[in-house]
Amino acid sequence: MNITVTLGNIADQSASAIVVNLFEGLQNPAGATRAMDAKLGSAIRALIVSGDFKGKLGETAVLYPHENALTTRVIIVGLGKSGEFSVDHARQAAGAAAAKAVALGCRTIATVVHGAGGGGLEAKAAARAVAEGVELGAYQFAEYKSKAELALLESATLVEMDEAKIADMEAGARQGQAVGECANFARDLVNQPPNVCTPSYLAAKAEQLAAAFGLKSRTIDLAEMRELGMGALLGVAQGSSEPPKFIVLEYWPGSTAITHLAPVILVGKGVTFDTGGYSIKTAADMPEMKSDMGGAAAVLGAVRAAAMLNLPTPVVGLVPASENMISGGSYRPADVLTALNGKTIEVTNTDAEGRLLLADALAYARRYAPEAVIDMATLTGAAMIALGRGGAAALFTEHESLSQRILAAGAASGERVWPLPLYPDYLEWMKSDVADIKNSAGDRYAGTGASAAFLKEFADGYPWAHLDIAPMAFAAKGQPAKPYGPAGATGFGVRLMAALLENWQGD
Ligand code: BES
Ligand code: MN
Ligand code: ZN
Repeated sequence: MNITVTLGNIADQSASAIVVNLFEGLQNPAGATRAMDAKLGSAIRALIVSGDFKGKLGETAVLYPHENALTTRVIIVGLGKSGEFSVDHARQAAGAAAAKAVALGCRTIATVVHGAGGGGLEAKAAARAVAEGVELGAYQFAEYKSKAELALLESATLVEMDEAKIADMEAGARQGQAVGECANFARDLVNQPPNVCTPSYLAAKAEQLAAAFGLKSRTIDLAEMRELGMGALLGVAQGSSEPPKFIVLEYWPGSTAITHLAPVILVGKGVTFDTGGYSIKTAADMPEMKSDMGGAAAVLGAVRAAAMLNLPTPVVGLVPASENMISGGSYRPADVLTALNGKTIEVTNTDAEGRLLLADALAYARRYAPEAVIDMATLTGAAMIALGRGGAAALFTEHESLSQRILAAGAASGERVWPLPLYPDYLEWMKSDVADIKNSAGDRYAGTGASAAFLKEFADGYPWAHLDIAPMAFAAKGQPAKPYGPAGATGFGVRLMAALLENWQGD
């Protein structure tokens, strides 16, 4: 999408839709909305008086000016209560307005910068939020529709009256657009069907990113995995005719050679389809498992964002990618695998495959002597039971400052994270009679904590955090993603990691 900032009056813009806003409970529109209301012959005031529009966050109404040749329609979006207003509310309002514009078939919008006037936000932060929200809200995945149902939003113009704010707004809009595009890049990967998005497809995407954004990419293939001893990943992969890939995508900022900074490593679970293996899933649960590479998508999107934002921190993405399939060659419940760090794992449940992939990736991360390692994985259904679809990602870490950084990034990005405990007891449940550890405790209790305890055995030698993003990665049909629909992939983790990495050097 083409996003620009322009100096002028919102009421004078020409676009398929003009977007203005309203705080909840406000009787008299102010600022840009008042200017628009004047052009509309007080139609906005009439709308408020009617009670049909409350100004709730993300609520929209559409008005049609009769004598204005410049625009066909005006979208009014609610900002919620002014006392609760925040950057995140500006982003959500922009997203809701963009989604409405798309639903109406608009190709261009001109919008006020929510919060930059009466909302009290800094110009740069407000423009960033609006650009990001527009990118997210306008997202569609229509690649496989023979006849597109909706047109794409081609351009958004952010309109500002105060010349002194324009330069800051341009910088903010560029950042917001970059981060929004990277989240949408991750959504595309997750929305791709599993016969297209295979481990090889992910590896090819990483190579394309490297070429386009000046990154370093390398893919470890089957033969090299065997040489290295990635027995846990190989165990999961052996049932599939699609070869596994271990993808490495590195972002080194220009000055790294001089500063010798250690990288932050992001690890993403890349199960491109999870049947459960011989511990097979039900027919109803299986189709959603095309999203089991949501962690991988978030990692690739976040490294892309690091490059686009030109961050000062080096970032390395590690993506162990495999299918979890059933065949005569599949691993069995009762097999024993040896991970890259030499630990042996009894496979008690072939559906607990994600932690096996992560075990080898976490052990591999050590060779970078990283500043920190953060993994993102659609790891457990139990995380969804605990926190709810769209509730929050579960955060596990024993590293206090890393915990604080991630929680702060959650607040800044609007991508919710909630901490859960990593009690040593959980590891007791993972004790095996035949190997060093087993991959599943065998009951339903604290399934998310048990998975984190398992991972901890492989995350040795660096500060580490685990994010179980199963509740957040994919919005099932009938429960479209809030606040940035439609149903399907959310791109969760990209914006969270971008916020984390942006502030990494600061504190
Ligand atoms: N990919 C699933 C977890 C999942 C389930 C993500 C639903 C999103 C929606 C994971 O590989 C899995 O199957 N986990 C098992 C673990 C169990 C066997 C210990 C689960 O959650 O049931
Ligand atoms: Mn599974
Ligand atoms: Zn899985």
